[in-house]
Amino acid sequence: MARAELIENLNRALSLELASVIQYTQHSFLVTGTEREVYCKYFREQGEESHGHAITVGDKVVALGGVPTVEPSMIRQSTDLAEMLRQDLELEREALAAYLAAWEACGDEDRAVRFQLEERIYQEQLHVDELSKLTSERKAGSVKEKITLRQVS
Ligand SMILES: [Fe+2]
Repeated sequence: MARAELIENLNRALSLELASVIQYTQHSFLVTGTEREVYCKYFREQGEESHGHAITVGDKVVALGGVPTVEPSMIRQSTDLAEMLRQDLELEREALAAYLAAWEACGDEDRAVRFQLEERIYQEQLHVDELSKLTSERKAGSVKEKITLRQVS
């Protein structure tokens, strides 16, 4: 029973990673203007990382006796860079939630899977942190304050 729940959550993570491969690749195609110089490469690298994540999750699903999904989750696209980054942040948050759910579904016999998931959760959290900064959801308040003070004096 616990195994079935673990496999289900891993398959949810796999569907999100498959969507990430497509979404990041599509964003790399669609980004234009001077921002393309930086973000085309960024999106392609993120897509490659998602592909690597999909591979390890799919392999694990089979190792646990399941069948990996071939259905990507919802893919979002835009021609506006800020909107692309918000869409990617949403997808990374969903992936983080799926990995956390898989971690919680691990039983005593799944300790190695739990360790593997902890590394993955750490990586996904870094993506969420970075995209939160890129979308300006998170700002370095103290630095902003210092800049303002310097401008005043
Ligand atoms: Fe990932």
